[in-house]
Amino acid sequence: MNGFHFKNNRWHSDGVPLSKIAEKVGTPAYVYSLPAFEDRFKEIDQAYKTVPHLMAYSIKTNDNLSVMSALSKLGSGTDVVSGGELFKARKAGVPANKIIFAGVGKTDEDIAYALKEGIRYFNVESIPEIVAINAVAKKIKKIAPIAIRFNPNIDALTHHYISTGKKENKFGVFLGDLDKVMKTVRESHSVRWTGVHAHIGSQMTQTGSVGKAAKVVEQIVLKLRREGFPIYDVNLGGGYGIDYQGEKPPKASQYAKQVIPVIKRLNAGLLLEPGRFISGNSGVLLTRVVYVKQSGKKTFYIVDAGMGDLIRPALYEAYHRIAPAEGPQKPVQTVDVVGPICESTDFFAKNRKLPTAKRGDLLVIFSAGAYGSVMGSTYNSRPLAPEVVTRGKRFAVARRRQTWQDLIRLEKISR
Ligand SMILES: Cc1ncc(COP(=O)(O)O)c(C=O)c1O
Repeated sequence: MNGFHFKNNRWHSDGVPLSKIAEKVGTPAYVYSLPAFEDRFKEIDQAYKTVPHLMAYSIKTNDNLSVMSALSKLGSGTDVVSGGELFKARKAGVPANKIIFAGVGKTDEDIAYALKEGIRYFNVESIPEIVAINAVAKKIKKIAPIAIRFNPNIDALTHHYISTGKKENKFGVFLGDLDKVMKTVRESHSVRWTGVHAHIGSQMTQTGSVGKAAKVVEQIVLKLRREGFPIYDVNLGGGYGIDYQGEKPPKASQYAKQVIPVIKRLNAGLLLEPGRFISGNSGVLLTRVVYVKQSGKKTFYIVDAGMGDLIRPALYEAYHRIAPAEGPQKPVQTVDVVGPICESTDFFAKNRKLPTAKRGDLLVIFSAGAYGSVMGSTYNSRPLAPEVVTRGKRFAVARRRQTWQDLIRLEKISR
């Protein structure tokens, strides 16, 4: 599993035993293998080496500054969806001209900030947004580069909560509105239309939908060029799947086979926004068993991490592998692994066969590098977990644990 391996009876992140990290920083704690992030980035980068391309790592999956900085050093740009993400990407040293700004609800403030920073372009998700970007750009005397995200009405064959390319989803412009989009752009003298974008969903475990989306985009680009728009950038989003529980997702090169011929035919530049593929299996969440509770025939491992640390099981009933950080790994009893939060959705595994654990034992929740810490909340006034990075035999706290003082920092008692 990427940077994580079992050696000398202990799970490690790179060369560091996870139990050593837990002793030093406490639990719950996220641990990221920086080389794992880098290797996954390189896998996609290599797969597309025969066409001009920019990888804009999707930081909604993991926006830790150390992670972004490491990827940026390999040439990565970023896909951002808020002013806050743009701010963080810039702080991590990502050049503005490698940043793409997506999202259905950009505010005027977001737009002005991005224009002043000089981002590569906006991925525009609606006609009213073209109007808004044009107005803001005009006001601050800039020309706004844009790509239009189309909704190709293609099923990504993934969980319905992370499918984004069907016509009932809120994302992208309805294909039937292409003429209206062209009219709006022609009337908007402060925007420059250079790209077409489609991102149809996340955690795709087959390549067919990617190929279909590429072909729809190809037809749109050809039509736009015939209409006189100098479209160069083809952005096919992210969505490449990973192994959570034994899925056999395609390799980056298999997705590339579907896409490269289209890019070559169009003589275009390719933009990609992979997130989970790079970050998902590059991080784990460490947690300790607080109690082993027997309730009739049921056994609960109550742990010190909760849905405020990793909400994916509660949100999508997502599966995460779990194992003791050290000692026997053989599953022997069926348990629920649950957190301390006052919600029945606060669980990490249900009816899962796991090794025996006792109070104080350290567990590793795998595949937690994407949509993990970024979705963290302080619900039940539980401080956010720290984030630790490893490389070789070294580890460092990249984000410290929140304190109780941090929890009240923004508040005052008003009467
Ligand atoms: C526009 C866009 N690009 C990229 C991504 C990253 O997707 P993934 O993590 O599946 O690669 C998302 C996630 O939903 C997205 O909405």
